[in-house]
Amino acid sequence: MWRRVVSCCIFNKFGELTWTTAGEDWILLFSGSYDLRCRFHFNPFYSQCLPDSSGGTTGATTTPATTPVTGPTTTASAPAGSQTPDAGNPFLGHDIYLTPFYAAEVNAAAANLTGTTQTKALSVAKIPTFTWFDTVAKVPSLGTYLADASAQGKSSGTPMIVEIIVYDLPDRDCAAAASNGEFSIADNGQANYFNYIDQLVAQIKQFPDVRVIAIIEPDSLANLVTNLSVEKCANAQTTYLACVTYAIQQLNTLGNVYSYLDAGHAGWLGWPANLSPAAQLFTSLYKNAGSPSFVRGLATDVANYNSFSTNSPDPITAGNPNYDELLYINALAPLLQSSGFPAHFIVDQGRSGVQNIRQQWGDWCNVKGAGFGTRPTTSTGVTLVDAIVWAKPGGECDGTSNSSSPRFDFHCALTDADQPAPEAGTWFQEFFVNLVNNANPPL
Ligand code: GLC
Repeated sequence: MWRRVVSCCIFNKFGELTWTTAGEDWILLFSGSYDLRCRFHFNPFYSQCLPDSSGGTTGATTTPATTPVTGPTTTASAPAGSQTPDAGNPFLGHDIYLTPFYAAEVNAAAANLTGTTQTKALSVAKIPTFTWFDTVAKVPSLGTYLADASAQGKSSGTPMIVEIIVYDLPDRDCAAAASNGEFSIADNGQANYFNYIDQLVAQIKQFPDVRVIAIIEPDSLANLVTNLSVEKCANAQTTYLACVTYAIQQLNTLGNVYSYLDAGHAGWLGWPANLSPAAQLFTSLYKNAGSPSFVRGLATDVANYNSFSTNSPDPITAGNPNYDELLYINALAPLLQSSGFPAHFIVDQGRSGVQNIRQQWGDWCNVKGAGFGTRPTTSTGVTLVDAIVWAKPGGECDGTSNSSSPRFDFHCALTDADQPAPEAGTWFQEFFVNLVNNANPPL
């Protein structure tokens, strides 16, 4: 079922004029020295009030822009880790482990293809891609990967990195439906999550010679910045903060895990009104966690489709001066630096090869026409950006288009979403073939 959401914005008189001419569907509820306008919509994700073109400011809508969200105050110092992180880019001097799970998915997909498409498809199995630990049952496989990576590192003489995504929060995906997870806050979710983290830690502890790069909880903190008007997110706020804090603290004790907190993307936290609240949230969480030294920075565009850097902005980005990931990063970094958060970034470009394929910037589900993007690299041309990565395993689905599924999200049935689509995380062959054929640069 679609959730109807109300967004309200206060506009000054100049802003009102812009909105009126922009033809937006805002309804004027009150007019005085300032106007209160609201609209009813189905996409709380991208309901920001755009500043008018003259730079006149407007408040954020679902964003509690003036209410900084603080982390838990009970966790003043991080559990001590015995090691000091590398001062520089943690990707350097290492090879990245190719996860057999994704390679198996890709090889199985390629077995159903022929000719050059098959050859291109097979090459994807050789491109490093993060593995999502989206259920506690998957955690033991991390031990297998680490053992394998450790052996490879010893035989090649180059130490290995295993790339993981920590993704099992209780009441996960609070503003959407497609990736709702296995734990619920009402049913022991926080304790279950702590146990999930403990299990990850126990696996990693056995392989101190392997470096782990971890992206922490896609969408979670971004939802706390802009989507507290969604009841499930508001109810999850305290638990998300406690869980993410626990994750970065525990991983920090290991000495070989570099963490990047997920920071949404340019079309989400990159809107000017959201930058400062986002920086405040990341910084307060980090400081309240005791400034864990192995938190390296932020991950952006995870599982999204935005360009890293472009000279021709996609029309859907109109109104946001930060129309690509690099602009977003350059706008956010000074705010982080001045507040004491480590401003280093990794950017997912796994499915960003083709632009101008979405009808709205908020469309995130199995976007039709998408292609594999820039290959993972540390040659980013920007010191703020440690690496371009492939975070979302291309070919794994974003969400089902089956409206009778409990995890159906309307975004997956929009006209720009490839259909029919299976459940999130499962293989979507047709989508994969399109990613292969539309890859840019070509495979
Ligand atoms: C989605 C799914 C999750 C999967 C991930 C990577 O978020 O919900 O299960 O692991 O994508 O494909």
